[in-house]
Amino acid sequence: EKGGYDYFMLKEIAEQPKAVADTLLGRVDGSGSLTLDEVRIPANVLREADKVVIVACGTAFHAGLIAKYAIEHWTRVPCEVELASEFRYRDPILDQQTLVIAISQSGETMDTLMALRHAREQGAKVLAICNTNGSTIPRESDAVLYTHAGPEVAVASTKAFLTQLVACYLVALYLGQVRGTKYADEIRAVVRDLGSVSGAVERVLETMEPVRELARSLAERNTVLFLGRHVGYPVALEGALKLKELAYMHAEGFAAGELKHGPIALIEDGLPVVVVVPSPRGRSVLHDKIVSNIQEIRARGARTIVVAEEGDDAVVPYADHLIRVPVTPTLLQPLVATVPLQVFACELATARGNEVDQPRNLAKSVTVE
Ligand code: F6R
Repeated sequence: EKGGYDYFMLKEIAEQPKAVADTLLGRVDGSGSLTLDEVRIPANVLREADKVVIVACGTAFHAGLIAKYAIEHWTRVPCEVELASEFRYRDPILDQQTLVIAISQSGETMDTLMALRHAREQGAKVLAICNTNGSTIPRESDAVLYTHAGPEVAVASTKAFLTQLVACYLVALYLGQVRGTKYADEIRAVVRDLGSVSGAVERVLETMEPVRELARSLAERNTVLFLGRHVGYPVALEGALKLKELAYMHAEGFAAGELKHGPIALIEDGLPVVVVVPSPRGRSVLHDKIVSNIQEIRARGARTIVVAEEGDDAVVPYADHLIRVPVTPTLLQPLVATVPLQVFACELATARGNEVDQPRNLAKSVTVE
């Protein structure tokens, strides 16, 4: 059942190209338009929504953080992302014009379920993004967009995360398509680009041996930091979460711009710091800033592990370890940049003798609040 892999997690990491392709199947076409009739929320509700609120936990929350960048960019509708466990306790402002998106692999996470119930009580429309057919969260939502990752067995979420991202991009692009924005051309181009993501993830997976080797060399360390900017920031958070839950290491993700506001004090000789570098194309100002961040931490002794796009030469002089990912549109980069961090965490867990599929103290589906 593990298909020749030692762990379900390894199998599920390897299944990601297919999971991504399956989640796109029947929803995008080559001409760059989307068919999401299955989202049964009427077009006028989507057009009139004046706010999007995303609720989720853990890894699904990180997918939500990335979705915010996409939704606000392509639709110009304000989007908030909140941990489901915090949401209803602060009496959030919700009404009929609020579109709530609840993201959950299992569809049974109690915090997320309670958040969506609260949202519906206030009259908001709820769209679930879920991987489990017929589970409670989609049943209690107004509409559902299923991710087609297939069953995820390992406690640490991998392929479900990538498909949550795909579903979030689809929703963001669809909202843009339905509402009409000045980004219509960009939307069509990105819809077409989504078709090549599965192949890009495949290429990342083919180049992971140096990442595994690097992970093994860090097995005795206690701390690893992760930095990112823009959509790379939630990727950094996700990389850190994977490392905590699997390797039981102290791992933290920061927005690279926050370094100087405190975390840079943590940098000491030999500290491994993973930096997720945005594409030098597009928002190049972010790229230049992160290159300076890498220089700053390296000057203070950090061992820099740099995840950067193929052809990005500016990072080479400052990278102790360079992990290449294929060129992708800026907003889609998390689909490729997350994969090496999953492999890294999985290999570190193995090197430290941890149980990969069943980390201590964790359950696959958290049905208590
Ligand atoms: C991390 C992980 C958890 C889940 C979280 C939400 O690898 O698996 O953080 O992402 O418990 O679970 P779902 O998506 O089932 O609501």
